[in-house]
Amino acid sequence: MRQPPHVLSGLGLSLIITTLSAQAAGLSAEHKAFGKTNDGTPVEQYILRNSHGLQATVITYGGILQSLMVPGKDGKSEDIVLGFDDVQGYQSGTAYFGATIGRYGNRLANGAFELDGRHYQVPKNDGPNSLHGGPLGFDKRVWKAQPTKSKDSVGVTLTYLSVDGEMGFPGNLKTEVTYSLTENNELRIDYKASTDKPTVLNLTNHSYFNLAGAGNGDVLKQVATLYASQYTPVNATLIPTGELAPVANTPMDFTQPTAIGKNIKADHPQLKFAESKQGGFDFNWVLDAKGDVNKLAADVSDPQSGRRLQLYTSEPGVQFYTGNFLDGTVKGKAGKIYPHWGAFTLETQHYPDSPNQPNFPSTRLDPGKTYTQSVVLKFSAR
Ligand code: BGC
Repeated sequence: MRQPPHVLSGLGLSLIITTLSAQAAGLSAEHKAFGKTNDGTPVEQYILRNSHGLQATVITYGGILQSLMVPGKDGKSEDIVLGFDDVQGYQSGTAYFGATIGRYGNRLANGAFELDGRHYQVPKNDGPNSLHGGPLGFDKRVWKAQPTKSKDSVGVTLTYLSVDGEMGFPGNLKTEVTYSLTENNELRIDYKASTDKPTVLNLTNHSYFNLAGAGNGDVLKQVATLYASQYTPVNATLIPTGELAPVANTPMDFTQPTAIGKNIKADHPQLKFAESKQGGFDFNWVLDAKGDVNKLAADVSDPQSGRRLQLYTSEPGVQFYTGNFLDGTVKGKAGKIYPHWGAFTLETQHYPDSPNQPNFPSTRLDPGKTYTQSVVLKFSAR
């Protein structure tokens, strides 16, 4: 007969305690169907919750963060990431809402690079350049999923095998992305990848945040701090010039808390490269934390709702993009319209076009080595 816990031996009792503490109270996860792709492949959603009202939904299509409910200072939760209610929205979408990006986040000039003396050509899907891994990047693939939990988090691990030559990139590449939610109001994204041939790799998450709630106007009054004293200026097709330029005395200076809209329309050629008519931000900031995941990389808050997002990353850069290509024509979740400048992204990354930029940190991955990246998004309200 099973004994009640209070009469168990010391060993039995410690076993029970271990089992209970295997998952912090208040955390929960469930998974269920999220429809099918156009070719009939089932897509699942994983819903992670903590006891403070944070709720993250990840779908197996595109490794996408489909929704992120975060309470404001009034206790009211809003979904703060842009996206769609169904798989078809993501399949036909071109904005990479919430997606896991690979193999190469951001641009490769002329869709080309060299590795060990060999020339590789990948599809050009952004004018003369390649963007976010090409037209069928990781954001358009169905990933395998496995629920995970640890002492203080619940999560889901997604895996995808990108075969040798897929979208022009060399090597069979195994990628693993784990989303996990903690009771400390942190959403973590941990990446791992390995290859059987030398290759290049730059993974990121392409969530579009609006701390007032997706579809609730633009983000111009939200206040951003980017802990970065340099950025990588670009040419007219958004390819880095190779220079690391100081942000001081430019609209790219977010070293002090600055409203996103304060200088967005300033007369600066870089802002016009990002958005030729009215201006916008779409650049890689060189983080002062230099890959130290314990140092704050960015801090954005919405004075009205009080929601605050603090970003930590093991990557050397972050693409801060202000939804310059959103034009109010896309209907997102719950039929909401996403206006121009209706969101910002914080795409943690190696610098764009690194394989063609000898002065940038390397994005090369060799067989026998493991690519890793960790990102922490911490939420609060004040
Ligand atoms: C790029 C933008 C691009 C956007 C969505 C960002 O990472 O920097 O130029 O328009 O992704 O496609």
